[in-house]
Amino acid sequence: MAFRARGWRSPPPPPLLLLLLWVTGQAAPVAGLGLDTELQIERRFVPDECPRTVRSGDFVRYHYVGTFSDGQKFDSSYDRDSTFNVFVGKGQLIAGMDQALVGMCVNERRFVKIPPKLAYGSEGVSGVIPPDSVLHFDVLLMDIWNSEDQVQVHTYFTPPSCPRTIQVSDFVRYHYNGTFLDGTLFDSSYSRNRTFDTYIGQGYVIAGMDEGLLGVCIGEKRRIVVPPHLGYGEEGRGECWLLPSNSVLHFDVLLMDIWNSEDQVQVHTYFTPPSCPRTIQVSDFVRYHYNGTFLDGTLFDSRWNLGKTYNIVLGSGQVVLGMDMGLREMCVGEKRTVVIPPHLGYGEAGVDGEVPGSAVLVFDIELLELVAGLPEGYMFIWNGEVSPNLFEEIDKDGNGEVLLEEFSEYIHAQVASGKGKLAPGFDAEVIVKNMFTNQDRNGDGKVTAEEFKLKDQEAKHDEL
Ligand SMILES: *[C@@H]1O[C@H](CO)[C@@H](O)[C@H](O)[C@H]1NC(C)=O
Ligand SMILES: *[C@@H]1O[C@H](CO)[C@@H](O)[C@H](O)[C@H]1NC(C)=O
Ligand SMILES: *[C@@H]1O[C@H](CO)[C@@H](O)[C@H](O)[C@H]1NC(C)=O
Repeated sequence: MAFRARGWRSPPPPPLLLLLLWVTGQAAPVAGLGLDTELQIERRFVPDECPRTVRSGDFVRYHYVGTFSDGQKFDSSYDRDSTFNVFVGKGQLIAGMDQALVGMCVNERRFVKIPPKLAYGSEGVSGVIPPDSVLHFDVLLMDIWNSEDQVQVHTYFTPPSCPRTIQVSDFVRYHYNGTFLDGTLFDSSYSRNRTFDTYIGQGYVIAGMDEGLLGVCIGEKRRIVVPPHLGYGEEGRGECWLLPSNSVLHFDVLLMDIWNSEDQVQVHTYFTPPSCPRTIQVSDFVRYHYNGTFLDGTLFDSRWNLGKTYNIVLGSGQVVLGMDMGLREMCVGEKRTVVIPPHLGYGEAGVDGEVPGSAVLVFDIELLELVAGLPEGYMFIWNGEVSPNLFEEIDKDGNGEVLLEEFSEYIHAQVASGKGKLAPGFDAEVIVKNMFTNQDRNGDGKVTAEEFKLKDQEAKHDEL
C-alpha cells in the first residue's frame, strides 16, 4: 500500500513499472520507454505450459549471458557449464535481477536490460563492470521451487480396476523416467531394461518418492514432483547419477508390481465344475495347465508357458511353495487364479530370462486330471490284508533269495491285480528299486528271508 501511495503522489514511470511487476508477476514488453534508466524486460519465449511462475522467496536455477550495451560479454553461466542458483527477492542478486526474474516460467527466456541504479551503480565492479554500466542479460529459467513446497502428485492415467494400492512397507517394482523441470531426462529405468525395486516408506528412497508413491495402483501413471529438500538436496547425489544441486525432479512412474512380506497366496476360483468327487490333497498326482502373467498383465515366457501342461505330485517339492499351496483343494475341471508373492515364488533371484527378481506371479490354472495319491510318505501300499507268507510268495523259485527282477515282477503283479498300489506320479521302476534296496540290508543284490524279516519288523513307511 505504501508503494502505491508513493507512486500516486509523484507518478513517474519507474514505480508504476515496478508495481506492474510485483502485482501481476508479469512485465509487459516495455519497448516504448527505451530509456537506459529503467528496467526493461522482453519475454522472448514463453512456453505453452507454465504451471508456476517465480515469486519473491523462490529458489531458482537459471542460465544467463550478461553483456554491456556494446554487446561485449562480461559473464555467462554457460561458460561455467552450470546454472546460477539463488533465492529471488532476498537481496542476493542485484535489485534489477531480483525484479526481472519475478513472473518467469520454467523454460521462459527473457531479455533484460538493467540500469546502473538497479545494478552496480556509479561504482561498478573493479575490473569487471565499469561505473554506470547498463547491463543486458539473456536469461533462461531452468528450475524453481520454494522451501515450503510439498511433494506434488498428478495421476494422468488411471487403470480401469485397482484392487490394491501402495502402502507403507510394501515392496514395489516400477518403471520411471526422471526429468528436470525443463524437461531434460536425467535417468530412466527403461534404459536399463529393469524396473526399480524397493520397499516403500522405510527410507530406502528419497523422502519425496516414499511419499509420492503412496496410493499408486498397478498400471497407473503418475507424475511425482519432488522439491530438492525432499530429494537429493544441495549435494544432488543420486543412486547412480550426479544431479545439479538443489534441483526439482519430475518422476513419471508406472507401477509394475506390488506385494508385502505378509502376503499369502491368493486363490480365486472362477469356474467350478458341476461335480467334484475329490479335491487335490497332498501326494495326489495332478495334471493341469496354466497361463502365467505378471501383475501388469504381461505373459511371462509366453512361448513355453501359454497353456502348458504340468504333471506333479502335490507336496513333493516339484513346484514353488506358492503353487503347491495354490493347487490345494482344487477339483478336476475347476479354473482358478492363483496369485503368488515372490517369497512363496521365485524370490529375489527370479528365473534368469523368465521371471524378474521379486516378482508377483499370477497363474490362471485349469485342473485336467487327478489321481489320488497314497497316504503321505508311502510309495506302495496294500489294498487288502498282507499275505502272511509274503517272502515265500515273492521267492517264486524257492531258493531262499530274492533278486531285483523277482521282486519287481511280484510288485507289478500285485499292482496289476489291484492288490497293491504304487504312488502315482513317480517312476515305478525307481520306487521298486528303492524298496528292494531298502530290504537288501547288506547290499549284496539279494534279499534273504532274514533281511526281509528284520526290515518287516521295523514297520516303517515305504516298506512292505
Ligand atoms: C534392452 O532391451 C532391448 C530389447 O530387448 C535391447 O535392444 C537393449 O540393448 C537392451 N538394453 C540394455 C541396456 O540391456
Ligand atoms: C518413459 O519414456 C518412454 C520414452 O519416451 C515412454 O515410452 C514411457 O512410457 C515413459 N514411461 C513413463 C512411466 O512415463
Ligand atoms: C491360457 O490362454 C489361452 C489363450 O489365451 C486360453 O485359450 C486358455 O484357456 C488359457 N488357459 C488358462 C488355464 O487360463
